[in-house]
Amino acid sequence: MEKPKRTVIRKLLKESGREQFGQLVHVKGWVRTKRGNKNIAFIAVNDGTIIHNIQVVAEVRNFDENLLKQINTGACIAVTGTLVESPGQEQPVEIQAVEIEMLGFADPETFPLQKKGHSLEFLREIAHLRPRTNTFGAILRIRHAMAFAIHKFFNDIGFYYIHSPIITGSDAEGAGAMFHVTAMDIDNPPRTTEGKVDYTQDFFGKETNLTVSGQLEAELAALALSGVYTFGPTFRAENSNTPRHLAEFWMIEPEMAFYDIRDNMDLAEEFLKYLIRYALDHCMDDLEFLNKMYDNELIDRLKQILDNPFERLSYTKAIEILMASGQDFEFPVDWGLDLQSEHERYLVEKHFGKPVILTDYPKEIKAFYMKQNEDGKTVRAMDVLFPKIGEIIGGSQREEVYDRLLQRIHELGIPEKDVWWYLETRKYGTTVHSGFGLGFERLVLFVTGMSNIRDVIPFPRTPQNAEF
Ligand code: 4AD
Ligand code: MG
Repeated sequence: MEKPKRTVIRKLLKESGREQFGQLVHVKGWVRTKRGNKNIAFIAVNDGTIIHNIQVVAEVRNFDENLLKQINTGACIAVTGTLVESPGQEQPVEIQAVEIEMLGFADPETFPLQKKGHSLEFLREIAHLRPRTNTFGAILRIRHAMAFAIHKFFNDIGFYYIHSPIITGSDAEGAGAMFHVTAMDIDNPPRTTEGKVDYTQDFFGKETNLTVSGQLEAELAALALSGVYTFGPTFRAENSNTPRHLAEFWMIEPEMAFYDIRDNMDLAEEFLKYLIRYALDHCMDDLEFLNKMYDNELIDRLKQILDNPFERLSYTKAIEILMASGQDFEFPVDWGLDLQSEHERYLVEKHFGKPVILTDYPKEIKAFYMKQNEDGKTVRAMDVLFPKIGEIIGGSQREEVYDRLLQRIHELGIPEKDVWWYLETRKYGTTVHSGFGLGFERLVLFVTGMSNIRDVIPFPRTPQNAEF
């Protein structure tokens, strides 16, 4: 039999109509379930291109008994057969099998995804197999759609994608929690005469780390190309075991010459709404699945984001609201406090009932590069706070005045030799500019309605965990 070319299951389920009925088709995929009786077998096959399975109907007498016995959950098969309208309600079409090939057997005694309904915790322990579940298929497809939409959004407004380095000699956020990168023998590194590790003999001739942010490099590019963005992995060695922190996460960092803090807020709001609208327009099958299985308010919550302008207020006003709230917070509220997610979520979920953009934070809790306000106490920072997530975006207008930036660098004890190149942008053709960072996994967390960030990245890196 001459086999037709393979068709992906998404295409069969989404694009076939009456004209395709009766055609011979060829599909490949993994068996989700097999049921039936001694005359007929119904095999649900999924190839990951769509959440739905295609139903394969096999008349038992036409097939080798051993082959049918081996077709179990998890096995990979190829099916050739006739596409017909499905009599069932569950699917528009199904395949009447003519030929079935076993591509890869999965032993039902040991295959871990035999049953449905495994806990997310259990699935984290088998991260190598969890993409085979409906849940992770849906999450991975939504994650892809969001990455694509991010590039599309920026491309359509004329921003350029900049590849910032992953290995850096600088500490953009001043957080101090970085992973070292070295090619030295760590058991026996070269040492200076004073006995300190001699990094001049290391691969790069200096101390280097995995980047915590591509912002500083994005600023260099923005002060040449106007609107740019980075989209890459970033690394933080902080020991944060929370459902919202990863040691390796992806960040999108747009940076714009000639934008002040207000332009920056407008862009952030437009960007987030665009991404959520994109998900609603392009990922509905997967969203419906997640809405049904995990969070029945998910789709409503996404739609609500689109309906209202985000609330904008200063950090100082937010502190007043929190102090007047009468809430019993774990971390007591006071001006100068770095807001915790309990405070952020109170503002968003209880007080305003919509996303909030907070601005003008105390300079002591923000990074050196932020534009200093006239009051001498605050900087032109902006954090976007979301329901269920807390901080989803952090950004600011940047300090573009050479002397003020240098003064802040000195105050914070940042060695000038580490940032001389950054300072030069303020010496030559400086101008007002702004930018922000969106945590990609926090976005995917919000869009999928999942509650743990470990479930929205294929292979999470968290303290004590880098198995897969
Ligand atoms: O607020 P952050 O630290 O800001 C920056 O890194 C700036 N350089 C951004 C800029 O202005 N270009 O991080 C930005 C966002 C946070 O709002 C959060 O969404 C996410 O990155 N994020 C994390 N996501 C997962 N795990 C972590 N450990 C994260 N730390 C920050
Ligand atoms: Mg932040």
